[in-house]
Amino acid sequence: MSVELENVKCPEPDGSAGGVWPRGVERGADGELRIAGLAASELVRDFPTSVFVIDEADMRARAAEWKAAMDEAFAEAAGLAGASVFYAGKAFLSVGVARWMSDEGLGIDTCSAGELTTALAAGVAPEKLGLHGNNKSVREITMALDAGVAHLVVDSLAELALVEEIARERGAKANIMLRVTTGVHAGGHEFIATAHEDQKFGLSVTAGVAREAIEKVVASEHLELVGLHSHIGSQILNLDAFVQALDVVLNLRGEAMKDLGCDIPEIDCGGGYAVRYTALDDVPPAPREYATALAAAVRGHAERTGVPAPHISIEPGRSIAAPACMTIYTVGTIKDVQLEEGGQRRYVSVDGGMSDNIRPALYDAQYTASVISRQAGDESVRSRVVGKHCESGDIVVHDVALPADIRAGDLLAVPVTGAYGRSMASNYNMLTRPGVVAVRDGQARYLVRPETVEDLLNLDADA
Ligand SMILES: Cc1ncc(COP(=O)(O)O)c(C=O)c1O
Repeated sequence: MSVELENVKCPEPDGSAGGVWPRGVERGADGELRIAGLAASELVRDFPTSVFVIDEADMRARAAEWKAAMDEAFAEAAGLAGASVFYAGKAFLSVGVARWMSDEGLGIDTCSAGELTTALAAGVAPEKLGLHGNNKSVREITMALDAGVAHLVVDSLAELALVEEIARERGAKANIMLRVTTGVHAGGHEFIATAHEDQKFGLSVTAGVAREAIEKVVASEHLELVGLHSHIGSQILNLDAFVQALDVVLNLRGEAMKDLGCDIPEIDCGGGYAVRYTALDDVPPAPREYATALAAAVRGHAERTGVPAPHISIEPGRSIAAPACMTIYTVGTIKDVQLEEGGQRRYVSVDGGMSDNIRPALYDAQYTASVISRQAGDESVRSRVVGKHCESGDIVVHDVALPADIRAGDLLAVPVTGAYGRSMASNYNMLTRPGVVAVRDGQARYLVRPETVEDLLNLDADA
């Protein structure tokens, strides 16, 4: 195989946390993939493709690893004020997943009435829920206050006024976190970097808006300032970016506490912890490394300034959900095209596409893929995996070495699709959104059933 092709070959499952496959995946001697003890061909008999498949034990373990890492790094014994982990439901949420996260000791960060209702339906304690969003509706704010969530993360001065008004009408006090923008720009793509000035999120620290908001909350009878929040972007490998942002928030907190004589008990550092999508990506830091870096920053700041350390929260989504899941497709049409620069590329079409994974089209995200239903031949061909939508940008995997003997009917898996896949899915071209299956100890069950065309027609007022 040429060096170029070798680079885009899908790594084999190796049971490691930094690999691209869920940890419970192995390839049998017959070449078929087994997911938590269940053969791929058996799984798709009851759960047809296209389908998202989550290794439950792996997803739970990733959540538990974050919890343990944060508890250890921020223990009171280490001179700090403890830590909490909120799973970011936007990555992928269902009632089952909310229960897993809760079982593993995590709260849930929600950002809409739908996510909040799902977490509550799972029986997650309201004091373990947060509500985000840059444009929360009156209904969402009221729902969160009725439920008694731990905090509403307020994103603008306008929203602060709205929450205060709603709390006043109810004669209640709302627990508020203020989302601040630190100016630390991090993350893989402009659309997923969120702490620079020219974007829609947060209250600017440098422009003084964050401080103004703190003063308003402290002065209000109907608002309780429970913390400051910063989310700097997604898919961040660089520990320094988190530390720099945290330092800005720690300074803001320390100055406000001294000047206003108030307490600000918590800082939430948001999500954004990276995962490895392909063999070309670096292996990201482990939860313990992120946690240790954040704890060192908090300890250092407390020692330097004499301001007591806050409780620290984080909101990982992708790093828990993405690597524990794969999408299984069935291969359909195969076509070879000649490239202008010479050579050829094989287009392998699958029974899904941009409606179940918009990330390649939206962010130029890179994935890999592998034939998982049989022992394929050794020879590889430069390939592109594409969907069945009416868009030439309907690409699932840009560049991957696939077996030369790939054929219609093969099962093709794309790993690391557990975050922002099903949760961003659409019905473009009236495709139905795939189901999500959990596999544990050789047993599979739907977490979310696949949509049917009847579901789509049910919404059609004239059908
Ligand atoms: C406020 C907030 N918290 C947490 C997350 C989760 O980020 P990730 O899935 O990259 O960990 C996001 C993602 O957009 C977010 O906006």
